[in-house]
Parts: sequence; C-alpha cells; structure tokens
Amino acid sequence: MKEQLTIGIVGSGYVGLVTAVCFAELGHRVICVDSDEKKIALLRQGKPPIHEEYLPQLLERHCNGAVEFTTDLKNATQRSQALFIAVGTPQSQAGNADMSYVDAVASEIARAITSYKLVVEKSTVPVYTNEWISRIMVRNGVPRDLFDVASNPEFLREGTAVVDFLHPDRIVIGVDSGRAADVLRAVYEPLTSGNYYKQAGAVPGPRMASGLPPLLETSTKAAEIIKHASNAFLAMKISFINVVSNICEAVGADIEQVSKGIGSDGRIGHKFLKAGIGYGGSCFPKDVAAFRYVAEQMGIEFGLLSEVEKVNTEQKQRFFQKVRSALWTFRGKRLGVLGLAFKGGTDDIRESPAIDLVRMFLQEGCIISAYDPAAMEKAKQVLPASESLSFAKDAYEAAADADALLVLTDWAEFAELDLDRLSRILRYPVVIDGRNLFDPALMRQYGFTYLGIGRAAGAHEKDPAFAYKLP
Ligand code: UDX
Ligand code: UDX
Repeated sequence: MKEQLTIGIVGSGYVGLVTAVCFAELGHRVICVDSDEKKIALLRQGKPPIHEEYLPQLLERHCNGAVEFTTDLKNATQRSQALFIAVGTPQSQAGNADMSYVDAVASEIARAITSYKLVVEKSTVPVYTNEWISRIMVRNGVPRDLFDVASNPEFLREGTAVVDFLHPDRIVIGVDSGRAADVLRAVYEPLTSGNYYKQAGAVPGPRMASGLPPLLETSTKAAEIIKHASNAFLAMKISFINVVSNICEAVGADIEQVSKGIGSDGRIGHKFLKAGIGYGGSCFPKDVAAFRYVAEQMGIEFGLLSEVEKVNTEQKQRFFQKVRSALWTFRGKRLGVLGLAFKGGTDDIRESPAIDLVRMFLQEGCIISAYDPAAMEKAKQVLPASESLSFAKDAYEAAADADALLVLTDWAEFAELDLDRLSRILRYPVVIDGRNLFDPALMRQYGFTYLGIGRAAGAHEKDPAFAYKLP
C-alpha cells in the first residue's frame, strides 16, 4: 500500500537535490533544506544549480508543489517524519572524512525534535557514524524512543543520477529497528512494488524492462561499509585496468580489446573497465582515502587501497609525459583542451584529473584554449586567471591553431566531432586522447598523429614525426 510521507532532506547539493525531486516523483512531500540562501533562492525559482539530466524537468514538475525549499532546518525537522542528511563529508587533512557538517546538522535536528523522527544518513560516512548521531541525539536530551538512525547509502553517478535513483541496481537500507525499517520500506515502496514504473510521465530507465529493484535490509554498520566498499572496489577496478593499459601500451596491444575480453567474463563485468587518465570526482578519491583510514583505525592493513590511489596519481603523470613526448618541449606550445569536468555529463570539477592536468601544463608554460560543454563556469573559479588560459566557445575554437588537441573528459559529443574539420584547423594534426574516445585506425585515415591510452604503439611509431623514440 502506497503511503505518502513528509520527508526532510538536509543539504541540497548533487545528492540531496536529486534525492528530493526523486522522492517527490515517488509521491512524497519533500522539504529540502540548505544553509546556502542563494542556492535556496535559485531553487525556489525552479532553477537547477547543477547540470544533471532530468533535473530541470523534475524541478519544473515539483518545485513549490511536492518539493519546497527552505533554510529553516528546525521547521523542516518538526514537519518531517524522516530526515535524510545529505550534506558534504569532505576529505580532511588526515584522509578521513570531515564529519563536522553532519555533526552540526544532527545537533540542530536533535534540538528541534518533539515527536518521533527517523534520521537517515544519505551522505557517504564512515562506519560508526550512526552511533555518533545517536549519541548526539541523546546528549541533546532527545528520549531514545523519539528517534532512530538509519543508513541509506546512495549509488548515484553524477550525470545519470536521476535515472540511477529511480532505476537502482539495489536499494540498501541499514536499520537496527523494525520501526526504522517500516519507514524506509514505505519511502521506497513505489519502486519496490513497481508502481512508479507504471505511472504516466515516469522517468524511463532500465528497471522498466529488467524487473523490480531488490531492497536489501542490513544493519546500519553493514550499510555504511557497503557504501565505502562499493566505491573503493569500483576505484580499484579503474586502477587495475589503467595498469593493464600501461602493459598494453608497452607491448603494442589495444586495451579496448583487452577490456572487452576481460569484461565478457560475467564474474568481472564490462562496467568500470575503461582506461583513462584516472578517476576523479567528489566520491572515489575521498571514499578510497576514508575507507583506508577506517581500516587503519581498526588496525587492519589495506595496502591494496594505497596502491589504488598511487596508480591513480601516476596515471595522470603518465598522460603528462605522453604529451611531453609528443611535443618535445612545452614552453609556448598551444594546447587545445577538450573537457574540464571529472567525467562527461556533469559540470562537476571536484578532483577532476582534467583540471589537475591543465594546471600542470600551465606551469610548464603552455598556452591553453579549453572547452567543456558544462563545466567552464566552475573551472573559471578554480583555475588561475592567466593570459595563457582562455575558454573557447566550442571544441573547434579550442582546437584552432593548436600544436596538439588533448581529450581530457569523456563527453559523448567529442566523439562526434567532424574529424576532417578538426584536422584542418589544428596547427599540427596531433590528438592525445586521455579517454580513448576515437578509433586509432580512423584517426590515422584522417591524417592524425593519434595517441590514446593503452592503444597499440604502432599508431604513432608509423608516423615519421615519431620516428625518433623519445624517453
Ligand atoms: C555530499 C558528500 O560529499 C557525499 O560524500 C555524500 O555522499 C553526499 O553529500 P554532494 O551532494 O555532492 O555530496 O555535496 P554538495 O554538492 O557539496 O552538497 C552539500 C550541500 O549541503 C550544499 O548545498 C551545502 O550548502 C549544504 N550544507 C552543508 C548544509 O545545508 N548545511 C551544512 O551544515 C553544510
Ligand atoms: C560514483 C559512484 O559510481 C556512485 O555510485 C556514487 O557512489 C558516487 O560516486 P561519480 O563520482 O558520479 O559516481 O562518477 P563515476 O561514474 O563513478 O566515475 C568516477 C570517476 O571514474 C570519473 O572520473 C570517471 O571518468 C572515472 N572512470 C569511471 C574511469 O576512469 N573509468 C571507468 O571505467 C569508469
């Protein structure tokens, strides 16, 4: 039976905002809270502060209807049955997650509670956070029977977060009481029953064909570990394939063929086996570090994760060296840069390897013209204002008169570029592709010197410009 709940979401960032509009899609009333007044003002006008597929449509559908936006956490707490904490948990100096925002929000919720509330951790948090939140509640005088704390981790990829939310592989609810389980089961009932997928105007996605999403009920601690371990495992897969790509490069094999061959084993799977310039984003780097820290605190050695991080850093360095070996010297060289976001489909530049590389090239005296379909405004805020760095209106403008074109983000539209036009506007037809968006054979046909990641070395060795072998 479908039950309409009133849900408070605290933190209206990439995770909180998507969660809010998706809960509204499921038929719940949602109060979305954020301490950032400007963000709330924007959201009240139905304007999405981030680039995310389906978000504009869902905001239009629910803004100031099923979803309201406010900075008043006290009021939101009192009116909500469940409160989802989705504020940031950034990495602190020591590598562990900085939990001060969660602490502050939990304390404020505690001071406002007058009736039973389920407090749900949605942010990625280390194991034991639920116990800390319970302690905060009790210290602030909340009677034990007036609250439960649960963990409901998100597995949302930026760019496809709405579809990931509404068509999940699984829903994990970490609960230590039947009362908490009942609330979370009711929250997700439209998905687990399949009723949402029959609804007119439902966001389309894989669950419409592949059956209903399973709901896994675990302890709160298990749910916290599931989140960290999932992200650490995916990061490990990426670092693994990146090392394999380096072997491919050394022996003249193609990583794309190797990835396909490995991934076809159902036990391994094709996903997250794409070699590139290393993983970035607001989750993998900080979650791998935080999970390693959790292990350390328990006296457990998890050197595997240190290797994952090391490989990831080295992968960026290798790309940098690859560009150097193609250009010989850097000073005064013009580079066209395609992509600044940490991956395609998002405007997010947090921990973006593309941003790190742009900084490294600028330091070497390169002149850069960069283009990203969504992340340029955010990139301008973090990259140094410099005469050597300009932002282009499209990919062709970025490429114009460049000594080499670098592909740093896997935007689908880059793969669709007019290769003939590109080869004519570049000063030298050199493309160094950190995301393997192009087919090396096709690039050669168009006359490019093309270097990918883990692609057969023949691609550049056959080029007379590369007849000399550089270290
Ligand atoms: C964050 C975490 O970084 C991630 O680990 C977790 O899984 C979910 O939450 P994200 O949504 O990407 O991810 O963060 P961000 O876009 O920075 O949004 C956090 C929001 O919380 C911001 O809008 C911020 O203004 C708000 N906030 C922060 C509060 O409302 N109150 C606070 O005390 C702190
Ligand atoms: C991740 C998780 O996938 C998601 O479940 C959630 O917990 C939040 O963190 P997100 O950070 O949005 O999502 O991006 P994701 O698609 O996982 O990619 C992370 C990074 O890995 C990107 O820089 C991406 O370019 C890189 N990547 C991904 C690869 O280099 N190769 C791959 O095969 C996949």
